[in-house]
Amino acid sequence: MEPARPELALVPRPRRLSARPGRFRLDTGTRLRVTPGAEPAADLLRHHLEPALGRRPEQSPDGTFVLAVDASLTGLGEEGYGLTVGPEGVLLRAARSAGLLRGVQTVRQLLPYEALSADRAVADGPAGLDLPGVEITDVPRHAWRGAMLDVARHFQPVSYLRRYVDLLALHKLNVLQLHLTDDQGWRMPVAAYPRLTEVGGRRAESMIGPAGSSRFDGRPHSGAYTRGELAELVAYAAARGVTVVPEIGVPGHVRAALAAYPELGNRPGRRLDVWTRWGVCPNVLGVGDHVLDFFRTVLDEVTDVFPSPYVHIGGDECPTTEWEHSPAAVARAAREHLSGPRELHGWFLGRVADHLVRAGRRPVAWAETGTTLPLDCVVMSWREPEHAWAAARRGHEVVYADHRTTYLDYARGEGPLEPPGQPGHVVGLRTVHGLDLAAPPSEPELAARVLGAQGQLWTEFVTTPEHIEYLSFPRLCALAERLWNPAAGWPGFRARLGGHAARLDALGVPHATPPGPPRPTKHPEPPAHASA
Ligand code: ACM
Repeated sequence: MEPARPELALVPRPRRLSARPGRFRLDTGTRLRVTPGAEPAADLLRHHLEPALGRRPEQSPDGTFVLAVDASLTGLGEEGYGLTVGPEGVLLRAARSAGLLRGVQTVRQLLPYEALSADRAVADGPAGLDLPGVEITDVPRHAWRGAMLDVARHFQPVSYLRRYVDLLALHKLNVLQLHLTDDQGWRMPVAAYPRLTEVGGRRAESMIGPAGSSRFDGRPHSGAYTRGELAELVAYAAARGVTVVPEIGVPGHVRAALAAYPELGNRPGRRLDVWTRWGVCPNVLGVGDHVLDFFRTVLDEVTDVFPSPYVHIGGDECPTTEWEHSPAAVARAAREHLSGPRELHGWFLGRVADHLVRAGRRPVAWAETGTTLPLDCVVMSWREPEHAWAAARRGHEVVYADHRTTYLDYARGEGPLEPPGQPGHVVGLRTVHGLDLAAPPSEPELAARVLGAQGQLWTEFVTTPEHIEYLSFPRLCALAERLWNPAAGWPGFRARLGGHAARLDALGVPHATPPGPPRPTKHPEPPAHASA
C-alpha cells in the first residue's frame, strides 16, 4: 500500500512504513542524543539541518532526537535502519554507522521540501520544520547501487562532483564510479607521470555529432584533478556513505595516455594526439613489460588516493588489429602460450587485475561473460542481460549495467525537445524501473553473485551540470528504488515521484527541463582546473 500522506512519499520506498499520529517539531531548541558510533550520522544530520534551522543543532545526553548504533539489531544488516517519529521525539537506530547515514536521508526526505534548499532558515517560518509521525524499518535489497559519471569525455570540477554525490546519497545510492581516463582525456594525476594530465588532459577540439561525423567545434577542452581534490571528494562521499570507485581503462580507450607517453603504444615512434573524435579508437596499449610496469605504478597511485575496495580497470572495446600487426605483440602472445594476439586482451587484463588483487583490492571490468577474466574480477555486464547470468554462472560477482536499461546517455524519450544524445535506444523512466535482477528460477544460487546495478552517464554529448542532472533524474530515482526495494511497483513509484519532484525542484535539479545550449557551469572552479 502506498502512503496516503504526500510527505511520506519517499524514494526509494522503505521496506516497511506506517504512519503514526502527530508530528515532531524540529526547532532551534532541538538537541541530538548521539550514542558511540553514531557521530558520523549526527555530523551529516547537523550539516543538512543547519541551513534550514539557521544553526547547528546541539548535542545533549537528554536530547529528544536520538541517533543510536546498536549492534544487536542484526536484521538491519550493514545499511538498514529503523526510524520512529512521534510528537515527543525521534529515534533513528541501526546496527552499523552506514545504516544511520541512510536513515538521515530519510529524515531529509520527510522534512518540508523547502528545507532541502540550503540558502534560508525555514524553521521559524509558519510551517516550521515538522517531521510527520512515522514508523519505518528499512533494509536495501542490493549492496551495489551505483552511478557512473564519465569525467574523461567532459571534465567536471570536484565542486560539481560533490553536488552529484549529495544527489546520489539522497536516493540511497552508494557508489559513484568515476570514469577518469579515456581516449579523449586523462583526468587522474599520477606523480610519476605528469604528462598524463599535462598532455593527456587536454584535447584540441571535440567532434560535433555522433561518431563518424566530420564536424568539430574548434574549441579546446581540458581539465584534471589534483590528488588533494580527489582525496577530499573521497572523504566527502564517505561522510555520506558513498564509495568513489575509480576507473582507469586498459588496454583500449587509452589514446590520451598514448599522446602523453608514445612508448606505451604498439608503434612507439608514432606521435598521436589526444583523440578529438567519438567512437572506438583503434589505438591500444602495447604489451611490453614496461607498459605493465607503467600501469602498475598508475594503479598504485590510484589505490593510494581511493580507499575503495573496488578498482575498475575498463576492458571494453579493445580492437586487436594493432597487436595482430605488431611483431612484438605476436611474439608476446607466443611466449605466453596464447592462441594468438587476440588473446592478449584477456592476458593484459589478467596481469593488471593480479596487481590489484595483490594490493588487496577487487578489480572490476566491463565484460560480457567474463570468459577471459580471472574469477577475482567483478564483471560489469553491459551488452546483454544474459551476460550477467553467464558471468555469475562462471563464478564472477556481477554488477548489472545493461545498456538498454541503465545507460543514462541514451535519450529519456522520443520528444522533440530531447537534447541530442547518444544514438541508440530510448531508455524511458519505465524501462529503468523495469530493471529486474531476479535470478533465473532454476538457478536461485546465482542471486548471491549479483551485487547490484549501476546507471551509466557517458558524456560525449553532455557538457554541463544541467544536462547531467536532466539525464540522471528522475531515472536514477527509478534505479535507486529497484535496487533498494524491488517489491515496490510502478504505479506506486509514479505516484510517489509526483511528491518527490518537489524535492528535486527544491534542490534545483532540472529533472523536467531539457537543457539548452551549453552554458558556463554553475559551479566554477579555480582557473587552473577549469574546463575550457
Ligand atoms: C561501454 O559502454 N563501452 C562500456
